[in-house]
Order: sequence, then structure tokens, then C-alpha cells
Amino acid sequence: MRLKDRICIVTGGGSGIGRATSLLFAAEGATVVVADRRRDAADKVVAECAAAGGKAIAMEVDVSRSADVARMVADVVARCGRLDVLVNNAGYGTFGTVVDIDEAEWEALMAVNVRGVFLCCKHAIKAMRQTGGGTIVNVASVVAAVGIRNRAAYVASKGAVAALTRAISLDHVAEGIRCNAISPGTIDTPYYDDVVARAPDKVAFRKGLEARQPVGRLGTPEEIAQGILFLAGDESRFAHGTILTIDGGMTAQ
Ligand SMILES: NC(=O)c1ccc[n+]([C@@H]2O[C@H](COP(=O)([O-])OP(=O)(O)OC[C@H]3O[C@@H](n4cnc5c(N)ncnc54)[C@H](O)[C@@H]3O)[C@@H](O)[C@H]2O)c1
Repeated sequence: MRLKDRICIVTGGGSGIGRATSLLFAAEGATVVVADRRRDAADKVVAECAAAGGKAIAMEVDVSRSADVARMVADVVARCGRLDVLVNNAGYGTFGTVVDIDEAEWEALMAVNVRGVFLCCKHAIKAMRQTGGGTIVNVASVVAAVGIRNRAAYVASKGAVAALTRAISLDHVAEGIRCNAISPGTIDTPYYDDVVARAPDKVAFRKGLEARQPVGRLGTPEEIAQGILFLAGDESRFAHGTILTIDGGMTAQ
């Protein structure tokens, strides 16, 4: 019960890493706000949390939209009285070099992966201040530390998330607010199922993804959720501006 009675928002909580994090947080005693652009997906995860005896609330929110984010945080404070933990997990990736990617694609990705984190932090920090503090966990990626080919916008967005994590941690440490990030390697989520499905040779593409991690397999969403739990809870109380990498050895090479 490491998050007993904590009020926690998990953005993108309807799928993959966000779903696993929501389920783990609920099992650890939190009230989880499963915030997702897809209401049906959020509802499904809330039902899974409830079936396991946990507490969860679904909210439909597009993190790239300021009005949505302001409403989400205001609703959480109105319904739950406070906000203790924010997990900025909503995000997605695209392919392409800077030459291939058009401006609209770039703007759309940055709006979710970077502006979404900015907006959620902006509103959440104002709420956390009211009750003496809280913790923020941003989901970055190993690509914040090492370049990979043909994913220029995504790589840039996750580099920004890592840098913003450090900036926020310094700006708000005196207010009792901790901000850290997790950098997963390649994780077996519905997002990657879609990516593999689009590859011309699905088997070879999947094998390539597995081979680039020394452990020889993709990570599971649950393995990342454990890292997010550590950063969200009191056991990491001395961590400020930390980027926790969990990647099957990908960046150890
Ligand atoms: N899967 C990986 O290998 C991997 C690796 C490193 C980092 N990440 C990061 O982890 C996070 C989660 O990825 P995942 O693989 O679990 O993806 P996923 O596609 O399985 O889940 C992402 C969820 O976010 C939601 N979402 C997307 N845009 C949103 C928006 N604007 N507002 C609210 N919700 C939105 C989607 O509806 C979906 O439910 C992302 O930030 C991703 O970049 C994933």
C-alpha cells in the first residue's frame, strides 16, 4: 500500500504503460484518475481497477488542449480534495527524418509529447501547492539519451521531456514538489503492436527490436510501472530531477 489514499492522475492511462501504471497504483491503495483521449479505453481500465478491488475514475482529456487539462485538474480537486501524484505518460511516436516529416506532423507530436507535459505540470503544480507538495513522473524514453534513426520528431520530443523534468525539479523543490522521469527501452504495448503491424516483414522487424536490447526481449508495461511507482512514492524521496532508465541494457552498450 505504497500509495495509500494518494490521489493520482495517470495520463494516457487507457493503454500500455499507462494502463499497467493505473492498475499498479490502484493495487497500492491510490485513487487513480485514468485520463485518456479515448474515453472507452479509460472506462475499461477503471473497470479493471475496480474488479481488483481498487479505486479509479475515468476522465476524457486531450493533454495537448489547455482547457481540457485545466478542467481535469479542477475536477480532480473538486471530487477528491487534492492532487498528490501526476504521471505524464500520454504520448506517441512517428517515423521519419527531418526531411520527411512535414510541419503539421511535427507540431501535432510536439503538442502531445511536450506541450501536454508542460500543461499538465502547470495546472497540477498549482493544485499540489495548495496541500504542501506532490510528485510528478514524466515518461521520457531512452531516445532522450541516445539517438535512433528515422524518428527525429519523437527523439526531439523526449529530449525535451527529460530537460523539462530537470528544470521543473529545480523550480519547485522548495515547494515540496518532486519531478522525475522514467526512460523506458522498447516495451511491448499496443503502440508497438501497431508499429510492427505496419512493417513489411513483421517477424524480422520484431526480431530487430528484440535484438537491440541486450536482454533479448521487449520489456513489459508492468516492468516500467514498477519504476514509475518507485518515483511516485516516498521510497524515492531523495530523487529530484532523476531520469531513471529501464531498458533491458539498451543504453549500457
Ligand atoms: N512502448 C514503448 O516502447 C515506449 C518506450 C519509451 C517511451 N514510451 C512512452 O510511453 C508512453 C506510453 O506509451 P505506450 O507504448 O504505453 O503507448 P500506448 O499507445 O499503448 O498508450 C498511450 C495512451 O495515451 C493515450 N493518448 C495519446 N495521446 C493522448 C492525448 N493527446 N491526450 C490523452 N491521452 C492520449 C492513448 O489514447 C493511449 O491510451 C508514451 O509517452 C511513449 O512515448 C513508450
